[in-house]
Amino acid sequence: MTDPIRKIMVSSALPYANGSIHMGHLVEYVQSDIWARFQKLRGHQCTYICAADAHGTPIMIKAREQGVTPEELVTRVAAEQHEDLKAFGIAFDNFHTTHSEECKQIVYRIYHALKDAGHIYTKVIEQAYDEQENMFLPDRFVCGTCPRCKSDDQYGDACEACGATYAPNDLIDPISVLSGRKPVWKNSEHYFFRLSNFAERLRTWIKSAELHPHITSKLEEWFSAGLQDWDISRDAPYFGFKIPDTDDKYFYVWLDAPIGYLASFLHLCARREDLDFEAYWNADSANEVYHFIGKDIVYFHTLFWPAVLDGAGLRMPTSVFAHGFLTVNGKKMSKSRGTFIKARTYLDNLNPNHLRYYYAAKLGPGMDDIDLNLDDFRARVNSDLIGKLVNIASRCAGFISKRFAGKLATALDDEALFSEITAESETIAEHYEKREYSKAMRIIMASADKANRYIESKKPWLMIKRESQADDVQAVCTQGLNLFRTLMIYLTPVLPAMASDAQKLFREEPWSWSQAATPLLGQTINRYEPLLTRIEATQVERMVEQSRQTVEKAEAADESTTISIDDFMKVDLRVARITHAEAVEGADKLLRLTLDLGDETRNVFAGIKAAYKAEDLVGRHVIAVANLAPRKMRFGVSEGMVLASGPGGSEIFLLSVDDGASPGMRVK
Ligand code: MSP
Ligand code: ZN
Repeated sequence: MTDPIRKIMVSSALPYANGSIHMGHLVEYVQSDIWARFQKLRGHQCTYICAADAHGTPIMIKAREQGVTPEELVTRVAAEQHEDLKAFGIAFDNFHTTHSEECKQIVYRIYHALKDAGHIYTKVIEQAYDEQENMFLPDRFVCGTCPRCKSDDQYGDACEACGATYAPNDLIDPISVLSGRKPVWKNSEHYFFRLSNFAERLRTWIKSAELHPHITSKLEEWFSAGLQDWDISRDAPYFGFKIPDTDDKYFYVWLDAPIGYLASFLHLCARREDLDFEAYWNADSANEVYHFIGKDIVYFHTLFWPAVLDGAGLRMPTSVFAHGFLTVNGKKMSKSRGTFIKARTYLDNLNPNHLRYYYAAKLGPGMDDIDLNLDDFRARVNSDLIGKLVNIASRCAGFISKRFAGKLATALDDEALFSEITAESETIAEHYEKREYSKAMRIIMASADKANRYIESKKPWLMIKRESQADDVQAVCTQGLNLFRTLMIYLTPVLPAMASDAQKLFREEPWSWSQAATPLLGQTINRYEPLLTRIEATQVERMVEQSRQTVEKAEAADESTTISIDDFMKVDLRVARITHAEAVEGADKLLRLTLDLGDETRNVFAGIKAAYKAEDLVGRHVIAVANLAPRKMRFGVSEGMVLASGPGGSEIFLLSVDDGASPGMRVK
């Protein structure tokens, strides 16, 4: 290899920390992991980073629904995501979080730099406000009828039916998705980033970044529509970093998300002596920075992000690589069809190498969507990886261990064939470099075909039976195994786990790219263990079935947040008269109540002592749940429950009934 050593930072987009990694995400993580592994295999200093995208309204709301703090939610989800990604062989040098000290520190540094340079201003805007939840609503938290095509149930930013984009207050009959109530429109001061200041700088950057034509044509559209300044603030309550010198304004999640790349890098610098944050990110840095992203977040990465970096006096990315979206069996991933497949469900049924190879075989540098056709997946993996690649090793290794004590011959049988295959090395490398993985896989599989044809022509299984030829079997199998070894070195970025097993077969240390050119001769190798097994149709079917079931379970859990009228009718609510009330010794919150339910009396413990004096309660009519299963408590058995409202403590208010109701009456 003649290239000088490059210093390269690679990132994958930060997954939102509120859901599971699925097959769609994996297109990106596999694509970027292959690239980072390729650069390392070539001997470059490559740093591959990622982080959890922790902030924003959806995460705040989800945490609230689950009764946990957003920090708890994010920590749990991010750990699960990282486990799943590691199981797929995604080898980040660091996986951090945007909810971190490092991130906060860089966010403030960048914000102050932008402010000092005059790139930030404030403006009062009108926003949807939910008076029940007491919060401003992001566009996606307002729903209503599309003003253009009149489709129901559209988000506040765009219509999924006709593609129109608009503001939430353009919707017909808007409602808040949080409370179901009509939002009001309120003024609020917001902070804006002057993207319009950067038009020229961005044009220059776009040229130097050599973005894919798919991206440049998108950018042309955006430029000709005119660059809009960017609203980087959100009102409290919000899960994020507070804007300095404000009480109730936070940075919008998309401001700190890409800063998460820097934060993860900074966090890594603390334990890596060879990495220096300032040297890497200063405006004149000659190091390389690449972001892998999906096509849905191109605007953020090719306009806002380079402009923010530039405005803050930091270097811009070398380039941004965007991929398309995953479809499964030709359609959008679907929960009901069982094609919304989570990483974990896949791992429970299939080998990660299978998927990594299939994606590699389909991926190119553009933004076209890629399809995971499950029948094609099985056929392709079985034919290429098992039928072609593994077959070379499994047909040769046995003879070497059984007949030649594990020892390879000292010379190849067909040097010309070996050279023919190693001559592809730089072409394959170039394809990896340009993210033309499908082209690289085609060359490698064509070489595997050649290797198999060679073995087929020699037929070592017949040679070994003929005395005159038996000794030549060593050279033939050494040839076959070396072709396999060279191809495995080329495939290391795609199939890292399998490559590491193959290294063990050859008793070698982790490979570098250049080793593919030199055969391994005269060495003793280990016994062959099967490297990979075929995909059976039943494995795929089971995965689809389990995906369907996981969704059904999740939906059942969702449904439990609402109840049917039948469920409600099961609750036996009765008017009850409090005939006796007293404090409970040893319990600071409880009162013991005796309830008259008309035809029976009940003993109930209620946590209302801070709000009511026992003597004031006697004679009051309240509402009781009469058919609650008795519950044994430390002080006795509680045989029901009285209804009250309020947050707790001294702010508890018993529900009462109007005059005329009498004990035992059913509440309907
Ligand atoms: N949190 C943001 C990214 C912030 S980067 C500073 C985000 N998160 S995400 O979890 O929704 O997506 C993470 C990455 O996965 C994105 O690049 C996204 O494009 C990609 N994909 C998510 N679903 C996908 C498919 N169905 N198919 C292909 N890629 C997909 O966006
Ligand atoms: Zn519409």
